[in-house]
Amino acid sequence: MRFLSPSSFTSLLSVKCFFMFLLLGASGYIGQAFACELRQRNQDFIPLARRDLDYTRFDILLDYLRRQRPDFLINAAGYTGKPNVDACETAQADTLVGNALLPQTIAHACAAAGIPWGHVSSGCIFAGAKVELDGRIQIEKDLTRPDIRSLVDQHPEKIHGFTETDIPNFSFRQQPCSFYSGTKALGEEAISGLGGHYVWRLRIPFDEFDNKRNYLTKIHRYSKVYDNVNSISHRADFVRACLDLWGTRAPFGTYNIVNPGFLTTRHVVDAIQKILHPNRHFEFWKNDEEFYQVAAKTPRSNCVLDVSKLLATGVKMRPVEEALAASLHSWTPITTEK
Ligand SMILES: NC(=O)c1ccc[n+]([C@@H]2O[C@H](COP(=O)([O-])OP(=O)(O)OC[C@H]3O[C@@H](n4cnc5c(N)ncnc54)[C@H](OP(=O)(O)O)[C@@H]3O)[C@@H](O)[C@H]2O)c1
Repeated sequence: MRFLSPSSFTSLLSVKCFFMFLLLGASGYIGQAFACELRQRNQDFIPLARRDLDYTRFDILLDYLRRQRPDFLINAAGYTGKPNVDACETAQADTLVGNALLPQTIAHACAAAGIPWGHVSSGCIFAGAKVELDGRIQIEKDLTRPDIRSLVDQHPEKIHGFTETDIPNFSFRQQPCSFYSGTKALGEEAISGLGGHYVWRLRIPFDEFDNKRNYLTKIHRYSKVYDNVNSISHRADFVRACLDLWGTRAPFGTYNIVNPGFLTTRHVVDAIQKILHPNRHFEFWKNDEEFYQVAAKTPRSNCVLDVSKLLATGVKMRPVEEALAASLHSWTPITTEK
């Protein structure tokens, strides 16, 4: 495999590249961001829709790959549940097909056709963080526990994220988990060892465009806010990092792709209040018990992810504080995005 330095890649991007990307899930929230970034890079791509070609069928996809010979396939397709993951509990077959069987089908087809590819996975297969307590590092799943929460606020340097070598602890193998998270972990497992591919772990996408899928919009609109601790991904930063991994020919494998650091929901609310001055008062759920009794059915993943593997490749991600502030300062209230 040929390796390009990040600088030679940047210069390659400024001219028309004769690569052809195949983009699955282009109509979705994340797929749209990939399409936008590929257009900005003046990069040829085919946004393939299920209604035009049933790429969920192995024989059809393989035949298409053999005929079109894309240089790289992006899988931004999957089943997320609308308006949130609770919907996956009642649409379990769709969730399993979209998040576990589809990636496996793609993996086999790409391996058979010799096409490298990237899969959008999720950080939601983890719960909690690695916490330095009493001189040793241990996994704490509940970051709302008062002693952990005060550590988060007073000694953030003692909170460490899960790395790509950690085993998912919010999955069917380590319950409890949501059905959605279980299938995302299963999807990663189903494709591991199958051909050359990236697994890109996205976590709670946000950006400057008001959109019901945007984390910042959701916080704006919730009647009451759930306070927890999370790593999050700026949507455009995420897709840029995914494409740059392939562009720089970074080794295939799994990458956490979040903005370095983590935030509490209270911190995000404070930033919204300070920068956007919304005409509302934000109330928080008293505790997990109240949240799960009233507002949520299935357990939610809240977690911190370590991003040093990505940064070590030379691919850049802005610190989370910077990406949050920039999004709020450029807040665009009206959008036509899905
Ligand atoms: N948004 C998030 O908060 C988030 C966070 C972490 C990870 N992710 C992952 O990112 C990927 C994209 O998510 P998204 O938010 O962009 O989802 P989305 O807006 O719901 O879009 C889903 C896309 O997947 C396509 N698709 C193909 N097979 C599907 C199937 N069996 N069921 C449902 N859709 C299917 C849809 O195509 P059609 O036009 O044909 O319906 C659509 O383009 C998913 O794998 C998701 O798990 C998302």
